[in-house]
Amino acid sequence: MAGRTTIRDLRTAAKSRKLSMVTAYDAFSARLVEEAGIDIALVGDSLGTTVQGRADTLPVSMRDMLYHTEIVARCTKRSLVIGDMPFGSFQAGADAAVSNAVDFLKAGAQGVKLEGGTAVIEQITRMTQSGIPVMGHLGYTPQSINATGGPRLNKQKDSLIDDAKRLQDAGVFSMVLEMVPAEIAKAVTEAVDVPTIGIGAGPHCTGQVLVFYDMLGFSPDFSPKFLKRYFDFHGGALKALKQYKSDVEAGDYPGPENSY
Ligand code: KIV
Repeated sequence: MAGRTTIRDLRTAAKSRKLSMVTAYDAFSARLVEEAGIDIALVGDSLGTTVQGRADTLPVSMRDMLYHTEIVARCTKRSLVIGDMPFGSFQAGADAAVSNAVDFLKAGAQGVKLEGGTAVIEQITRMTQSGIPVMGHLGYTPQSINATGGPRLNKQKDSLIDDAKRLQDAGVFSMVLEMVPAEIAKAVTEAVDVPTIGIGAGPHCTGQVLVFYDMLGFSPDFSPKFLKRYFDFHGGALKALKQYKSDVEAGDYPGPENSY
């Protein structure tokens, strides 16, 4: 496929295979996600925990998100780049939501994602009517942590299906389903025509998303059931750093081969 993946490309691809999405925040992650041929690079507000070391995503600002979105857009040529609207950037109403979403597109994203169902339909409608591609996000929504008390399975089948249909009617091109039992995610996926992208939502979604740091083993203490760790970055990097420290202390680095 030449050029940047489009939403139309995604729709076509989804007819014959599952879609892949991984978060990217910087040049390192963006280039790897791109080189691996991942369909969508999500500049997730999970950067609040993974990159900024915060306890949750609530303090992440538009300024933070635009900074990272610009980097990811600059360092990719093929992946579809989606910017995650941070807490506070759309809750106040449709005018603020459109204005902030426009800033994401100016920073190089091809679309935005925002958390919520019925409560954000007005915002999504205004954004899609303004030509801004929107990805919805249902199930567990991390920005509601103060209301929900933390990650938990969302088993409210009827309300999830209802919300998914409303999001579709509002014009989303896709939606994330987070922490939803597999059979309920299947029913939601079957109830809509747009692709569903699951995280902790079983195998029946149209695609899957994982957080770059989690799937590559940067965060050994984070191990929810849904997470498959494809690489032990933490273990490998720690071993290498300890070896370097010991080489420096023993005078073994730099050796003649590393010296001018
Ligand atoms: O912020 C994020 O990384 C996300 C994904 C987990 C879907 O919203």
